[in-house]
Amino acid sequence: MTLGRIEDRIKEKLASRSEKGLLRRLSPEKRGIDLSSNDYLGFARSAALRERVERKWNEYQGPLGAGGARLISGDSELYHELEREIAEFHQAPAALIFNSGYDANIGLFASIAGRNDTVIYDELVHASIRDGIRLSNAASYSFRHNDISDLEKKCRLAKGSLFVVVESVYSMDGDLAPLEELASFCERPGAALIVDEAHATGVFGERGEGLVQKLGLESKIFARVHTFGKALGIHGAAVLGSSELKSFLVNFARSFIYTTALPAHSLISVWCAYDLLKEEPTVINLLWERLMAFSTALASHGIEYSSTSPIHAIYFPGNETARAVAAAAQNAGFDIRAILSPTVPAGKERLRVCVHAFNSEDELKGAAKLLGEVKKSL
Ligand SMILES: Cc1ncc(COP(=O)(O)O)c(C=O)c1O
Repeated sequence: MTLGRIEDRIKEKLASRSEKGLLRRLSPEKRGIDLSSNDYLGFARSAALRERVERKWNEYQGPLGAGGARLISGDSELYHELEREIAEFHQAPAALIFNSGYDANIGLFASIAGRNDTVIYDELVHASIRDGIRLSNAASYSFRHNDISDLEKKCRLAKGSLFVVVESVYSMDGDLAPLEELASFCERPGAALIVDEAHATGVFGERGEGLVQKLGLESKIFARVHTFGKALGIHGAAVLGSSELKSFLVNFARSFIYTTALPAHSLISVWCAYDLLKEEPTVINLLWERLMAFSTALASHGIEYSSTSPIHAIYFPGNETARAVAAAAQNAGFDIRAILSPTVPAGKERLRVCVHAFNSEDELKGAAKLLGEVKKSL
């Protein structure tokens, strides 16, 4: 294919997205009161966290950058100590840090599920899990969202080792997986449950340990993925599991092996974020108070919604409608984003409203009033 033809194809694809109103664009502009980020506890903007990081950073004498992959020159005592801290915090035998949640899922699934194995995943799992499964060459099937009887049905198709994959909190819907039932289901021989705790980290459990620990299920889960870029306000992720799993990933997870390790500043920042969770967990209670305040305000404006996590999916079916409601919210000073199809199924277009510990009750009441009024007017 000539360069001209490749460029024509790129232009055609962009034009087709643009015609459908689905062209994604980068924009540094903030669109009002934050009701869209995953910074649930406000750590990304926390003066207390910044202070801790600066203090620890000033004491640090090592190199800025890792200078290579961990298996070559990029490893450090800092990495090892932080992994021990994270494993202890999450009551897991071992933790392995990846550069992002995306890398963690890609590396975990592509390596752990072999050609003769089967992965069965909830139909709403994140793209990083799907991409990892695709790279694995294992047989894979999705099951209906949170439907254990459909999972059971799909399991009849399984061969080899069986990996069942769920998120504790679903990133676009904000609802929870039935982890206790899933854990009992996976007690059958040859089955392993993997839980992505990206949106539960910092939110569930007294110190934000996640939903698995809140329910006391640590010993029943084969692997957990915790990310540091959401409630912890930084970046990166850890896979928790046995020390054999850790060693396996060090040997076979390509997104771990073939990439430059994180710089020291990131590791120090993640460490300080965990320290803040341990030492000042009251912010988690504040987050839950705000969640309750938001569902009460929504109900008073005719939207019945029972918050199970900071993520609220408020349906406004149709891409045009969802986009128009998001624009109205932004014009009124609320940074609320629409999630359109095909990211979510047609007919399930929505506003994804994320509530944070730092949102005031007045802000939440204002947003609920606006959404309620728009819904009534449609
Ligand atoms: C459930 C889930 N897993 C993994 C990721 C990826 O994490 P990261 O942003 O650290 O790459 C996300 C990010 O949105 C997510 O929602």
